[in-house]
This record gives sequence, structure tokens and C-alpha cells, in this order.
Amino acid sequence: MYVSESSRTTTPLFLLLRHVLAIIIRSEKRSRNILEDEQKPLISLHAQYTKLPDDQLWDAPFSCGLHPCIRPTVRYKAVQGSNRYITVRSNGGLNQMRTGISDMVAVAHIMNATLVIPQLDKRSFWQDSSTFSDIFDDIHFITTLRGDVRIVEELPKGLESVPRARKHFTSWSSMGYYEEMTRLWKVYQVIHVAKSDSRLANNDLPLDIQRLRCRALYNALRFSPPIEGLGKKLVERLRSRGRRYIALHLRYEKDILSFTGCTYGLTDAESEELKIMRDNINHWKVKKINSTEQRIGGFCPLTPKEVGMFLQALGYPPSTLIYIAAGEIYGGNIHLSELTSRFPNLIFKETLATNEELKAFVNHASQTAALDYIISIESDVFIPSYSGNMAKAVEGHRRFLGHRKTINPDRKGLITLFDQLESGKLTKGSSLSNLVQQMHKNRQGAPRKRKGPLLGIKGRARIQTEESFYENPYPECICS
Ligand SMILES: *[C@@H]1O[C@H](CO)[C@@H](O)[C@H](O)[C@H]1NC(C)=O
Ligand SMILES: *[C@@H]1O[C@H](CO)[C@@H](O)[C@H](O)[C@H]1NC(C)=O
Repeated sequence: MYVSESSRTTTPLFLLLRHVLAIIIRSEKRSRNILEDEQKPLISLHAQYTKLPDDQLWDAPFSCGLHPCIRPTVRYKAVQGSNRYITVRSNGGLNQMRTGISDMVAVAHIMNATLVIPQLDKRSFWQDSSTFSDIFDDIHFITTLRGDVRIVEELPKGLESVPRARKHFTSWSSMGYYEEMTRLWKVYQVIHVAKSDSRLANNDLPLDIQRLRCRALYNALRFSPPIEGLGKKLVERLRSRGRRYIALHLRYEKDILSFTGCTYGLTDAESEELKIMRDNINHWKVKKINSTEQRIGGFCPLTPKEVGMFLQALGYPPSTLIYIAAGEIYGGNIHLSELTSRFPNLIFKETLATNEELKAFVNHASQTAALDYIISIESDVFIPSYSGNMAKAVEGHRRFLGHRKTINPDRKGLITLFDQLESGKLTKGSSLSNLVQQMHKNRQGAPRKRKGPLLGIKGRARIQTEESFYENPYPECICS
């Protein structure tokens, strides 16, 4: 449901990035092979199928005594009661807005401003009219950050009509950029920020700014009481059905298939429908896409069938309880059936909650996404079928909370294996299972520092190769 605004705005870069990646891929591959569990050549491996013991399927990776650390350092100074104001129009889906708002807290702090509670995105693809306080606990937000930055519900009456500096801050900006922006205070008393996503750099910011981002996202931005309440209830219900569950972010939704041009396994009519949708959305800049190349490159969400084969190969038994954290699955049961046939215990929010409970959430995509978020955070295992904003935010939060297990599919590697299987070069069961398990040994959310940019790339494309701050807030907000 939530094609990110940042993926839209960076669409021209997306292609460029792919070209650049193609150039550097050989050198990268070389270092990968060394880093990742020295894989044997794919075909010559004849190891037996090994059913993994329960603890390997379900337990969190060893976290080496690491714990969250978000307290400020002794050098930190709160900014209090400034009479300069920042207003924000937050953009994107739920998780893009959450991380964007957390960045705006940090920006308000750097610029010594009072932050006005942000407006949420109502016009974008998912058309959710929810306000900040529908989704977040605004009082909790204000009080939790009291020691960091002053936050108010509204701009004071007297300032509503004064001229504002309207700014599109440059993406991934440094501390210096925002310090420089304080010159605007010489002329203006109010700055309006037109977009909140990805305005702050991932790296090279002072420790206290990084920790403030974590305090904002993980402590202050709590969901509103109705959402928290139902979220908790649904988690309890899932737990009462089975001791453990996987939350599967099955990003097999119409918008992302259309946006990425991934039509593998779809009918001609479906492919055509997705193409028409893409052609009609102006801000999606790339119109001509070769689906085969997308898929081979690992740029497609896994299909329900591929997810089923993946989970099976990892060793999860057919009885496994799987919560589907997603909106409407494209094609509904027709495509889902290839997952259901392998894992019949799929649970959707529509079957977990009563109509009465869900009534308030209907037509509020961000609010239902918040339910999925809560259930995903609390799951024993989280598996995203695509690497979007939700996948990244949940993965990072789970790392923060104690490196809860997140299995990140190596989509490119999996597609290679599945295609070999299809062409008869690989036998199902034993060898596939073994290869998939090896391939994912180091992709389970175990502690590691955030990855920096790939070498040899310049400018914005370089930043896009960085792991995002909220995807892995280690080392700044996770300490030993
Ligand atoms: C923040 O701004 C206020 C005025 O609004 C000023 O009194 C205070 O000294 C400033 N603090 C810092 C740290 O610059
Ligand atoms: C798409 O890419 C594949 C692989 O590079 C190629 O074989 C195929 O001909 C391309 N299809 C079109 C329609 O260009």
C-alpha cells in the first residue's frame, strides 16, 4: 500500500544507481564472497536436508550483552522555550512519516526552535485523513521530549499570518547545513518544512543528535491509545493460538508491483493493468521496465509462492503460525494460494480482529499499518518480502529492542536458486534447503554495525547505498 515518497522522488536516481551498481558489482562480489560464510559452489553441494531444531528457527540471535542506550551525554544541552517555530508537513506512508518526524525533532533541536506538531500526509497514494493525534499519542510525544525540544500543538495565534520561510531542506543534510539554516531566523520567526522524509544524514552526526533521533522514534512516538490497545489485544490473540508466530510483511501489493514493474508469474491481463497504473502516476518517473531484469537483479518483492518455498527451505514446518502484515494482496487468493498450500495457518487482521474492532480503522491505511507494525515488532520472527520503509523501520526497531530475529531474504540469491530448481539444475528438498539456510546464516538480525556507503560511488547515489540510520541504529543507540 505504501510506495514511499522517497522512492518516488528518487526514481531517476534509481536507474542511475542501478547502472553504477552494475559497474561496481564485480569488486563488491569479491568482498561479499569473503565476508559471507564461504559458500561452496552451488551445484556441487550434496549435503542432506537438515531439519533445524526449534531454537534455531525461533530464538533471537546472540546479542552479546548489548542493550539500548539513548541517554544524552554530559555535554548535551536541551533547548528550551525558543520563540522561533518550525512547522512541518510530513510526507509518505506511516513509517516514512515516523522517521521523518523523528528527524524533525532533531532539526528543531539543532536550530533551537519550537516544533509545532506535524501535519500528516493526507493527499498521497493511500489517502488517509488521519491527524497526528489519531495515530500518535501527542501528549506523550510532547512530554517525553520535554528535556530535548519544546513542542506545541499549534502555532500561537499571533504567528499564524506572519510570513513563513518555506523550505525544502536538502536530503540527507549534515549538522552544518542546519546550523547554517539558522540564518533564516534573522528574517523569519516561522519556518515551514514542506517535506520531512530523509532530510537528515544517516552518518557523521554528533552522538547526541543520533540519540535524540532514537528517543524520538522509539520512546516519544508512541501510537495513540486506541491503536496501542487493539495492537496488544491482537498480539495476545495470536499468542493464544500458538506459542510463536512469524510476522510476514508480504509486500505483494498492487502499487509496489506496478512501481517496480515486477510481473513474474502474473497473467498478461494483470501485467497490463499494472503497466497502465504506472503510466498514469506522474511522479513515478520510470515507465519502461524489463520485469526479467528487475527480478534477476533482486529488485522485486518475493511472490507468495517464492515466500512459501523460502520458509519451507528455512525449515519452518507447515503448521507454523504466520501473521500477514500487509494491505490487500494483489490478485487475492489466486496468488496467495501458493503460500497457503504450504502454510495453511496464515492469519490476516481481518480474521484476527472482529468487524467491530476494525471498523474505526477502515479507510485509514496508516492506522492499519500501525497495527501491523505493533504485531511485527512483537513477533518471534519478522520476515519482509521486500525492503521498503516498513521493513527497514521494523528491522531497526527489533535490533534496538534486543536483536529480535529478523530474517532478511537475499532476494537475488533466492531467485538464482529458484530458477535453477525450475530448470532442473537443482533438486528440491535437501540441497535447496541447505543452500537457502547457508545463504541466510548471516541475515538473521544479529548485532553488527550499520553499513556505510559502498566505495567508489559519489554524491547522492553514494548516500543511497548506505544502510539507513533507523534500519540499524548500532552503534549510537545500542551499546555494550
Ligand atoms: C535559543 O533561543 C533563545 C531565544 O529564542 C535564546 O534565548 C537561547 O539562548 C538560544 N539557545 C541556544 C543554545 O542558542
Ligand atoms: C528483458 O531482459 C532479458 C534479460 O536481460 C532479455 O532476455 C529480454 O529480451 C528483455 N525483454 C525485453 C522485452 O526487452
